[in-house]
Amino acid sequence: MDRSTTPAGRASGVPRRTAIAGTGVLAVTGAALAACGDGGGGGGGGEAPAKGTVIGKASDVQVGGGTVFKDAETVVTQPAEGEFKAFSAICTHQGCLVDSVSDGLINCKCHGSQFTLDGRVAKGPARDPLPAREVTVTEAGDIVAG
Ligand code: FES
Repeated sequence: MDRSTTPAGRASGVPRRTAIAGTGVLAVTGAALAACGDGGGGGGGGEAPAKGTVIGKASDVQVGGGTVFKDAETVVTQPAEGEFKAFSAICTHQGCLVDSVSDGLINCKCHGSQFTLDGRVAKGPARDPLPAREVTVTEAGDIVAG
């Protein structure tokens, strides 16, 4: 009946070292959840070049075709003479940079998606069009962002 004389640290009967070892940390991160999607729009369009940035030369963009300006991550097409259109060159499937423009189509070689010269999906697996970007063509023939 005389419990008040028992030291508190020994009352449980569990050695201190054993008790600490039982509190190990389980390290789990959520990084795996950020893995690639299934085609629901992984590209997001990327970041457009700053307004006023020279993207390239209009003379490098054929009528009825287009050019991928990789440094600016922008594809510029010319569906009809003097009519320039620009889009993000980030494929809306899983974010690869589109590779080329041929036979009137913008091609992504990662999984074979193709887009028309006005950015619409011509062939999947991409489901979303390439986001449009604003460009102007100067009198000197430069394609300028914004
Ligand atoms: S990233 Fe898959 S087709 Fe472009």
